Amino acid sequence: MAIIKLKEDIYSVGSIDWDRRLFDELIPLPDGTSYNSYLIKADDKNILIDSVDPTKKDELIKNLKELNIDKLDYIISHHSEQDHSGSIPFILNIYKDAKVITNEKCKELLMSHLHIDDEKFHLINDNEILKIGNKNFKFIFTPWVHWPETFVTYLIEDKILFTCDFFGSHTASSSPYIENECIAEKNAKRYYAEIMMPFRNIIEKNLEKIKDLDIKMIAPSHGYIYDKPEFILNLYKDWISDDVKNKAVVVYVSMHGSTRNIINYIVKGLIEKGINVQQFNLTNSDLGEIAISLVDSATVILGTPTILTGPHPLALYVTYLMNALKPKTKFLGIVGSYGWGGQTLNILKDTIKNLKVELIEPVLIKGDPIDKDYKLLDNFIDTIVKKHKDLKLL
Ligand code: FEO
Repeated sequence: MAIIKLKEDIYSVGSIDWDRRLFDELIPLPDGTSYNSYLIKADDKNILIDSVDPTKKDELIKNLKELNIDKLDYIISHHSEQDHSGSIPFILNIYKDAKVITNEKCKELLMSHLHIDDEKFHLINDNEILKIGNKNFKFIFTPWVHWPETFVTYLIEDKILFTCDFFGSHTASSSPYIENECIAEKNAKRYYAEIMMPFRNIIEKNLEKIKDLDIKMIAPSHGYIYDKPEFILNLYKDWISDDVKNKAVVVYVSMHGSTRNIINYIVKGLIEKGINVQQFNLTNSDLGEIAISLVDSATVILGTPTILTGPHPLALYVTYLMNALKPKTKFLGIVGSYGWGGQTLNILKDTIKNLKVELIEPVLIKGDPIDKDYKLLDNFIDTIVKKHKDLKLL
């Protein structure tokens, strides 16, 4: 990535990964990503903020050379996951006097993952201010965004908050700043949904810790830099709130069409009664899109046939994922078709133990629905509509 000067003596020196399409071998990245790393010159001191994925280390090193950084004094490591820390050993090998500024927990993880020597660390405490050269760095511990060691750094003189994964988005863009707010919101929401949503409650506490800072810029380590910080701060406040939207996410898989008929009937009924619906066929849907829709939907409806003795594996997979992501969904409906029996309902119920949802009376139908089954589905639809009305969403 080209070096981008953000302010006098502050540069973005990381890397854009245009081609990456999967993160953690799980999360789809339709728009690629970036590993933002920042270089700060503070009088005679040079400070690097996070590094880049090790596959991109040469770009970072080249950028540092281009800026004539012959001496690096510190590397601030906010998070030990390798897409930000993985190049630190290579940097330390070139800049042999550099120290890694981090907290105790991150040090432990960096030592176990990357085998960095104990003597290389300079440990900091929560809310500590460290003067380096002519600049003051305030370190604020913000655990679980999204690992236990994560913290952020507030550069006091420049009013910049460096947040690593916190407020990030998986976006490959030649512009460091937002060009289209709708696209930026969706990318940030995808990132929140896939990575931050399980930690919704602790994020609220972390936002509280930074709320009194005078922030002119938020510089995460993925995606956009926010020169209007309220854009992303307001989105996060909405996402972590208990408020849900008048929306039902419908995820389903159908083997021979019976479950599809059930789903089609429900979706039509919900739309006719004023509920917004997002429908996903699990055989061809992007899990990230499903995760985005889970961020603020009041209701989730899961449709599955019974295969062998349980739910279709795709339905079980998305249920497991939903349980891990812990969306603030209020209501969950389970519907589907079976041939001769099975444990579909019990297996799915056992998979949602993290979810604080009210289970709508499930409708499991033998074979393809007939008149008596459609009456059950009408009742299912009416129950959801009533729940939304009770929450004043309708
Ligand atoms: Fe971008 Fe948790 O690493």
